[in-house]
Amino acid sequence: MPEDKIIVEGGRRLAGRIPVSGSKNAVLPIISAALLSSGQCRIIDVPDLADVGVMHQVLEGLGAKLSRQGKLLDVDASSLSSCEASDEMVRKMRASFLVMGPLLARMGQARVSLPGGCAIGTRPVELHIKGFEAMGASIRNEHGYVLAETSGLKGARIYLDFPSVGATENLMMAATLAKGSTVLENAAEEPEIVDLANFINGMGGRIRGAGTKIIKIDGVAELSGCEHQVIPDRIEAGSFLVAAAMTGGELTVDNVIPDHLKPVIAKLEEVGCPIDEEENSLHIRANGRLQAVDIKTLPYPGFPTDMQAQFMTLMTRARGASVITETVFENRFMHAEELRRMGADIRLNGRSAVVEGPSNLQGAAVKASDLRAGMALIIAALAAEGVSEIGNVNMIDRGYENLVEKLKRAGADIRR
Ligand code: UD1
Repeated sequence: MPEDKIIVEGGRRLAGRIPVSGSKNAVLPIISAALLSSGQCRIIDVPDLADVGVMHQVLEGLGAKLSRQGKLLDVDASSLSSCEASDEMVRKMRASFLVMGPLLARMGQARVSLPGGCAIGTRPVELHIKGFEAMGASIRNEHGYVLAETSGLKGARIYLDFPSVGATENLMMAATLAKGSTVLENAAEEPEIVDLANFINGMGGRIRGAGTKIIKIDGVAELSGCEHQVIPDRIEAGSFLVAAAMTGGELTVDNVIPDHLKPVIAKLEEVGCPIDEEENSLHIRANGRLQAVDIKTLPYPGFPTDMQAQFMTLMTRARGASVITETVFENRFMHAEELRRMGADIRLNGRSAVVEGPSNLQGAAVKASDLRAGMALIIAALAAEGVSEIGNVNMIDRGYENLVEKLKRAGADIRR
């Protein structure tokens, strides 16, 4: 079978409306959190993504029963038969590590493969581990696996050296069924954390302060089932806005929570693309004249690292020099080399990239090194002269639902 590729003929303006799917980064921890409950959970607006499929398989491997109909996912974790997430799964998706907290809390034991390095830098888990230990778990490494055991988790005061999204989620989930109260200090404030807390509270959990730096969790003995609708994907929405800006288009992006996109909207306006906010949608008008801006990625509410690659593409079209500084992940500039193949003028210097624009991008054969890098290349291809072939498409399938169809409906010349 020939390798899957996305083919784009550049030069079409995006116009019309694009709907945004449920958030990948919200739904993954939510599916995992269903492991905490002995009731039935129904999750609504679940996007059809490769990563969601992996989490589905991980839970089935633990003995949970899942059934999916369209955008609905029912999870029944009333009886679990295993507490192990295999190497194969964690390698496919690092977020599989998020079953550690729920398993430890519910079963008193978890054996989860230690995530290795990945394309965007080493991504350690020591903050997760330190937190579990503070709650009374004993942890050891065994043949590439993290083995955690406890005779009962106890609430603790935990300060995170860095506001890690995954550590905040894993510890919040574990604390839900711990004895007593837990306080997470310097917690991550991302909207996906708030969505997870709302889901857990819907099951009867007692979490306060999610969305701020201090989260308080009062442990409960048991959780029941619930129904929960996942928030829209702010990164998908931001990616479409950037695609519109890149092609000088005029686009309405539907199903968004504008508040979640504040830092992205602010930068797009600074670039010269006015954005009108409505209750559930954002309307962008781009006229092709773009001004270079500097960008520094930071934990929420700062500029998201998951939008850095797409903005680097945009800056190739803007007038002037843009300095893009990545502070969240090391080595998250793999797309720069591919963009250069398309004619971009980008210099890397440690954690910063200097993009000199405007460049006339040219279609080329390029490869997606990770999910967001893949989207950045598609955005580049939409505005490039001629035809581009984007390879390693499975990276893009991890996090964008129906991407080709959505862009095609907005006027792009794109196919698989
Ligand atoms: C989540 C998102 C990802 C996003 C990232 C930052 C999901 C499924 N993924 O990833 O899309 O890019 O947040 O917004 O939600 N770190 C440590 N020790 C730890 C944990 C993290 O040093 O124990 C470091 C990481 O190496 C990284 C930084 O903290 O440099 C951010 O990681 P983290 O916030 O944990 O990201 P993820 O939860 O993996």
